[in-house]
Amino acid sequence: MSGTGSERPPVGIGRERQFEVYVGGARGVHPRVPVSFERLEEAARKAMSPEGYAYVAGGAGTEEAIRRNRAAFERWRIVPRMLRDVSVRDTAVDVLGTPLASPFVLCPIGVLEMAHGDADVAVARAAAAEGIPFVFSNQASRPMEESARAMGDAPRWFQLYWSTSNDLVASFVGRAERCGCSAIVLTLDTTMLGWRVRDLDLAYLPFLRGKGIAQYTSDPVFLEALQETLKQAPPPSGRITLAALGTLWELAGSYPGPRLASLRSGLARAAVRRFVETYSRPSLSWDDLAFLRERTSLPILLKGILHPADAVAAIEHGMDGIVVSNHGGRQVDGSIATMDALPAIVEAVAGRVPVLLDSGVRSGADVFRALALGASAVGLGRPYVWGLAAGGEEGVREVIRNLRADFDLTLGLAGCASVSRIGLDSVDRVG
Ligand SMILES: Cc1cc2nc3c(=O)[nH]c(=O)nc-3n(C[C@H](O)[C@H](O)[C@H](O)COP(=O)(O)O)c2cc1C
Repeated sequence: MSGTGSERPPVGIGRERQFEVYVGGARGVHPRVPVSFERLEEAARKAMSPEGYAYVAGGAGTEEAIRRNRAAFERWRIVPRMLRDVSVRDTAVDVLGTPLASPFVLCPIGVLEMAHGDADVAVARAAAAEGIPFVFSNQASRPMEESARAMGDAPRWFQLYWSTSNDLVASFVGRAERCGCSAIVLTLDTTMLGWRVRDLDLAYLPFLRGKGIAQYTSDPVFLEALQETLKQAPPPSGRITLAALGTLWELAGSYPGPRLASLRSGLARAAVRRFVETYSRPSLSWDDLAFLRERTSLPILLKGILHPADAVAAIEHGMDGIVVSNHGGRQVDGSIATMDALPAIVEAVAGRVPVLLDSGVRSGADVFRALALGASAVGLGRPYVWGLAAGGEEGVREVIRNLRADFDLTLGLAGCASVSRIGLDSVDRVG
């Protein structure tokens, strides 16, 4: 151990964070949320409803893809190098003109209100404070304008689902531009929801309760179309049960404005119906991308790419980046792990556009390993949702700080003074 005492401030976010935690402990102050991923998830589970926890934790089918994502990280072993002066380390990177204090972004995650009442706005504040970009979800619980206001000038991107209405797509993109988003992330892997057994067993889908549709209910194009739906809306059918009334009440509470007014007007129910009709376009194909390319000059990243030929096609269609993702194992059970897909995609892309990766990132070592295989940065998903559930905005800040610290220390201890020093020779594949 180095002989640095409290008289000399530690250098770098890793040592600063360790120092903060250990000195806090000496004063009887413990981290606000658990540092270990397993304990963090457990703290979040206790803070959430069974439905909310199942929605975030769950994956498709047998959840084999969730397990495989982790196993694929663990097959790559970091091989540390010595005597390379790592006293000062640079963890910052730039992706498509967006500055990242450390090489990760916060993934787009829908329905954050299931984790905490402050939802996206709490995450936006935490991300801005820590210098990590936040990718606003198409299925956010708060309109993107609210999250943007909470971030000042801090970097943010917008994630888009391509709906059945091109006018709505254009409207979302226009709003994202006005919100200061510096890239559009088009998610391709969720043209239909995967077979999610935990949610099916609970017979619970948040969107049908009016949750996670705030981008729609704050959109002028959607609201105009909603008037049509309202005219055609049939009266509630079937037996009126206590559960059905409860759902209606919950639904009305999710719609902007006074609950009773949206209950009387039928707007809340109509919004959900309209959302279900609008949400996705399974017919989407490569030719459709031209529409988006013409609508915005912002860089466009395609999220959900797992095959090298699709990565090449993305570049040929004028896309600016790739996110290798299997949606955290939520869409195709038995899907290839992202760390298994990454090397061939990096090879096919050959440096022409940045390649990001998510699904299973849990530690600084994971960030390091993905970068060693050629990723420009990674996406952090469930861990920050657990931080939000367990500790609100402060919980998210701690999760970000911990990952930044863990990565900074891993970088230095592996013998790299900057991200650019990480290479294929930094890792070894076993098995
Ligand atoms: C609860 C939940 C909601 C999500 N919502 C979205 C979304 O709205 N849009 C999107 O592109 N991806 C969404 N994702 C996928 C994440 O962006 C990311 O790909 C995934 O969480 C990575 O896996 P990990 O959390 O296991 O690391 C969601 C993931 C979770 C867990």
